[in-house]
Amino acid sequence: MPQTIGIPRETFAGEKRVATAPDIIEKLIKLGFAVTVESGAGNGASFFDDAFAKSGAKVVGSAADVWSTSDIIFKVRAPDLSEVALMKAGQTLISFIWPAQNPDLMKALADKKVTVLAMDAVPRLLSRAQKMDALTSMASISGYRAVIEAANAFGRYFNGQITAAGKILPAKVFVAGAGVAGLAAIGTSVGLGAIVRANDTRAEVADQVKSMGAEFVKVDYEEEGSGGGGYAKVMSEGFQKAQREMYAKQAKDVDIIITTALIPGKPAPKLITAEMVESMKPGSVIVDMAGEQGGNCELTEPGKAVVKHGVTIIGYTDLASRLAKQSSTLYATNQLRLTEELCKAKDGQIVVNMEDDAIRGFTVIKDGKITWPAPPLKLPAPPAPKAVGAPVPVKEKSAFAKVISVLTMPVIALALFALIGLYAPTAFLGHFTVFVLAVFVGYMVVWNVTPALHTPLMSVTNAISSIITIGALIQIAPPLAEGLTRPDELIRWIAIVGIALTSINMFGGFAVTRRMLMMFNK
Ligand code: NAI
Repeated sequence: MPQTIGIPRETFAGEKRVATAPDIIEKLIKLGFAVTVESGAGNGASFFDDAFAKSGAKVVGSAADVWSTSDIIFKVRAPDLSEVALMKAGQTLISFIWPAQNPDLMKALADKKVTVLAMDAVPRLLSRAQKMDALTSMASISGYRAVIEAANAFGRYFNGQITAAGKILPAKVFVAGAGVAGLAAIGTSVGLGAIVRANDTRAEVADQVKSMGAEFVKVDYEEEGSGGGGYAKVMSEGFQKAQREMYAKQAKDVDIIITTALIPGKPAPKLITAEMVESMKPGSVIVDMAGEQGGNCELTEPGKAVVKHGVTIIGYTDLASRLAKQSSTLYATNQLRLTEELCKAKDGQIVVNMEDDAIRGFTVIKDGKITWPAPPLKLPAPPAPKAVGAPVPVKEKSAFAKVISVLTMPVIALALFALIGLYAPTAFLGHFTVFVLAVFVGYMVVWNVTPALHTPLMSVTNAISSIITIGALIQIAPPLAEGLTRPDELIRWIAIVGIALTSINMFGGFAVTRRMLMMFNK
């Protein structure tokens, strides 16, 4: 008997997302499950009942019908207590839960003797868990939407323009906190043509910010901000003071600030003070994405957009829900990937295997027993730092020794050339010089290039390969003029092997060039 997956309508006021999409239902049915959806559950995300029915789901009239007939419940928001009351022992709930923030909910669920898998408890450091990482999917949608909200409230263009009516300067955007949401906000702002700067307490983020086309603004204070697992930690007083000074300067200069800074299990750090808001240009916009955790800006009112000191401060806590179709699709895909992990036999039955690191991380209640938090993951230990012994004193070389060491190689090379010049045929010396120079140029051109650029280099070396092929073809071809001798068999075979090897480089190079050009095709 296949298990039934039930999807009730989200009850949280204003929530437009739904925990499934018609395409995903088809895939769940292929895994062997039956699917029941509450009528109207997908309206907010533009997935209507007829589309659900067409994809093979049973559409039922009320939430009670879904909760009472399903073995597994898929939800987006954590259930409220009235929904928990509809649950029965042995059911499995897969949803955002936030166990640390919701102890009462955890207790109520445990009392119901159910199993709960929390989408927010994904062990993000496991690469296998990335396809199930709904936190990342939702954060990147929210980062995108934050910029769209800012653009909507901002009275100017994002990009610079030169028009007949005058020159328009590009907008300046400052992103505080460059995690998943921050990087998405940077990408979107750069795409709209703004000048973008960003800051984060974790040093490793700087390169990611630069690679997205923004400038990383450093706080003038040395302190590592990584608190482990890719997350931040609370910074020292000294750092916070230096950071406030830098943020105060940015606030005066930029038009839009997007804040995303969070520290797991702690209130959001207050980064934008009331004075900083006051110092901003009239018409500026702040989008505070940390509203639900208290906000990064002192003047944020969570859930609302307010205007203070002429600055619009947007504290919406439903940014992902404002892009409901996109977020529902990605969320449903994350849940599908999780279901595939739970149902490896594809027989419509889930198995919550607590020996599996990824599943163990998600499982916050197993058959009524609270299993949260999961024990820390056993990840491979980072390579041990090289032992630092006492510094070995380096003997300073005498001036004579220095001259000798600099001259040794050139003198040996000259002597070798002189020997070859004296004893080898004249033609050989010419070829040999070209050969040595070619090796030298090849060494400098290839070895001095960063490995990341070897692919485009391979594409460029096509031209060099064709020269090799021409040389090899001359060796194979019959003598072109009277008196020239045909090369012996050994040389001809070496030339044939040469052509074969070079062809790999030439055809590979063309293939790589084509793929690189396709990346720029829109
Ligand atoms: P988050 O939502 O907890 O925090 C957002 C950002 O705010 C972080 O980058 C944090 O460093 C920054 N922040 C905190 N306090 C700050 C302060 N006082 N000033 C400035 N910035 C501050 O984090 P999120 O976006 O959920 O993930 C953070 C990181 O986790 C990612 O950048 C990545 O390195 C890691 N991660 C790894 C994944 C994986 O390996 N599969 C998946 C997702 C995230």
